[in-house]
This record gives sequence, structure tokens and C-alpha cells, in this order.
Amino acid sequence: MHIKSLELVNFRNYSNVILEPINGLNILVGENAQGKTNIVESIYFTSSLKSYRTFKDRELIKWGFEKAYIKEDIEKQNSFNKIEVLINNEDKKAVRINGVKNLKPSDAIGMVNVVIFSPEDLKLLKEGPAIRRKFIDNELNQLRPKYHHALLQYNHILLNRNNLLKLSFNKPSLKTEIEVFSEQLAEYGSFIVEARYEFIKKLSMIARLIHRKITNGEEEIEITYQCDAGLFNSKSQVKKELLNFYINQIDKDIEKGYTLKGPHRDDIIIRINGTDARIYGSQGQQRSAALSLKLSEIEIIKSEVGEYPILLLDDVMSELDINRQKHLLNTFKNIQTFLTCTTLNDINAFHFDNKSIFTVKQGTVKKQ
Ligand SMILES: Nc1ncnc2c1ncn2[C@@H]1O[C@H](COP(=O)(O)OP(=O)(O)OP(=O)(O)O)[C@@H](O)[C@H]1O
Ligand SMILES: [Mg+2]
Repeated sequence: MHIKSLELVNFRNYSNVILEPINGLNILVGENAQGKTNIVESIYFTSSLKSYRTFKDRELIKWGFEKAYIKEDIEKQNSFNKIEVLINNEDKKAVRINGVKNLKPSDAIGMVNVVIFSPEDLKLLKEGPAIRRKFIDNELNQLRPKYHHALLQYNHILLNRNNLLKLSFNKPSLKTEIEVFSEQLAEYGSFIVEARYEFIKKLSMIARLIHRKITNGEEEIEITYQCDAGLFNSKSQVKKELLNFYINQIDKDIEKGYTLKGPHRDDIIIRINGTDARIYGSQGQQRSAALSLKLSEIEIIKSEVGEYPILLLDDVMSELDINRQKHLLNTFKNIQTFLTCTTLNDINAFHFDNKSIFTVKQGTVKKQ
């Protein structure tokens, strides 16, 4: 799949811009604070209907204006789609697909698939579990609309359950209500756990092959799911076991005032040559592993949707050494890519036949 045209109106620092990228490597070059990441963010937004930089959609609207508009024409193997999104300053968005109005934002999720790689992602192995959960959730949200729904519901119920737990100290009468919330958590939680389990199994298989290549066969990577609710005895019993798990911890949860354990605390363990790379890996090993995970994400999308996603590389080249850059660039051949950099020196060492350079300056984009 590839973007044929992208139009932004009052989005971030753009008044009105139309970009016609090629189905190859699109380089967005410009000094700091000119609008390169804003372009990348708008493309990401059409894929998941949320930004990766903010939860508040209104921040995407150009200062002093009330609405922002994004229009994207996408060509796929068997279809041509036009996505339009209108964002207003109450954090509401209206979605139109191929001219059909009043669609739910969730209808647009997955219409276009993207994989984003930014310096943030190089921290995948360094930071706490939240960043790795986000990595898995973002991927599953794109691939499975039901997952997106289940996650929203889970987080909503979790919030209600936590509020109730805070009120329940010394009030045993509220226990029945907490049990009701626990049942709902188990309902959505079991769906999330099963999807994560399947996804991580696939991720581990693909990452192993990619990581061998990146490290010239010197390292074996292994990715396993660390389910905070423990191991389940059988797949068909996940919901029941998860419910027991929540019920058994109610007293402890009341004492603390929040839901101590569950899928909202899940993590993945990444081992390199048998040891936990988060604890023992060198900086370079951690970066290579992050790169393997990202490259695996591309392959998983290809295998699930039958087409390569669009690749967004924001400021990442200067963070990688030549060997890792080469591995990343090798994947470009079949993928429409948007790459931001402050100077073309970052990529001049590599030769591409199929590239287009856009200069980004103060909210304008000019093709070179
Ligand atoms: N809602 C908004 N309205 C107007 N301008 C905004 C808005 N949000 C952000 N900006 C401005 O957009 C500018 C460009 O931001 P962007 O993150 O795209 O820069 P960049 O070219 O990627 O820079 P860098 O090389 O430092 O990453 C910033 O100066 C920022 O202040
Ligand atoms: Mg930037």
C-alpha cells in the first residue's frame, strides 16, 4: 500500500499543504522545528486515529483555529481509498471514507497500516513495561479492530473498579459491585491476553530470523510473554481463571485502593543468547533488538494483511550505526517510506534509485 497524496489544513504548523509522495523513499529534510515530524504524525494519525505524541487531539489543530483536516489518498493492491478526518477543538473527530460520511473513527482504523520508528523506540528495551505494552497494543489495534475495542473497554472498567476500590475501605457492602466489575474485566482481559499471547509467539519467531541477520548469526533473540496474571492452565479457561484471579485479590486491592495485578501490568521479556537483554544487554545489543522488533512488526503486517505497511522513520538514522542503518535501508525496497532528517549527510552514504526529496521549512513543503 502507498499514499498517493496527503493534504493537511490547519494541522499543527501547516496552514494548507499537499504532498504527493512517491512509492519509494520520501526524504523530508529541514532544520529543527520546521514541521517534519508533524507530517509523520499526520500519516500515523490516519492509520490509528490517534497521535503517538499526544492524547489530546485538539493539540493537533493549528493555534488560533478551530478545526484541522487531513485527507489521504491510498492505493492498495486491490483498492483505492480516500480517508478524510476532521478534528475539532473538543477532541472530537469526524471520519469520511470514500465520501461516506459520519463513520465511527474505529471504522478507519486499519484502512492504512503504518510502522513508525522514532528515537523513542530505541528505548524499547531500556524503559519500564509500559513502552513495551504500547508497542504490542499499537500493533494489535491496527490489525484487530476488536482488540482496540476490548482495550478501551478494559481501561474504562479498570478505572471504575479502581474508583470503587478507593471507596470500599471499611465498606464491605461494595464488594458485590467490585465483583461485577471483576467479571467485566475478565471478559475483556481474557480477549486481550489471548491476542497478546498469539502475537508475541509470532513476533518471537520472526524476530529470531531477523536478529540473526542483523548480528551476523552471533545472537539468538527470544521474546516471551510475561502475563501478569500468571500462566493459564488451558486456553478455553482463560476467562474463568482470570475472574478467579481478580476475585482472589479483591481484599488486597481494597487495601491498596487499586487493581494491583492483571493484563494492565503485562510485559514481554527479551532474551539475547539466553539472558535478559533489558538487564544485561549492552546499549548496542539493546538497539539491535529494538530494530529487530520493529522490522518484525513490518513482516507481521505483511503476513496478516498481504501488503507491506508504510514505514515512518523519524530522526532515527543518525541514532544508528552504519551496519544497523544498512539493515533498515534494505527493507525499503518494497515499502513506501517517509524518512526525516536535518541534513542529507545522514543518508548520503547510501544509494537509492527510487527517492524523492522534500524540503520542509516553516510549515511549507517543497519538492526538490
Ligand atoms: N498546534 C500547533 N499549531 C501551530 N504550530 C504547532 C502546533 N503544534 C506544534 N507546532 C509547531 O510545529 C513546529 C514543528 O514541529 P515538528 O515537531 O514537526 O518539527 P521538526 O521539523 O520535526 O523538528 P526536529 O528536527 O526538531 O524534530 C514546532 O516549532 C512547534 O512549535
Ligand atoms: Mg522532529
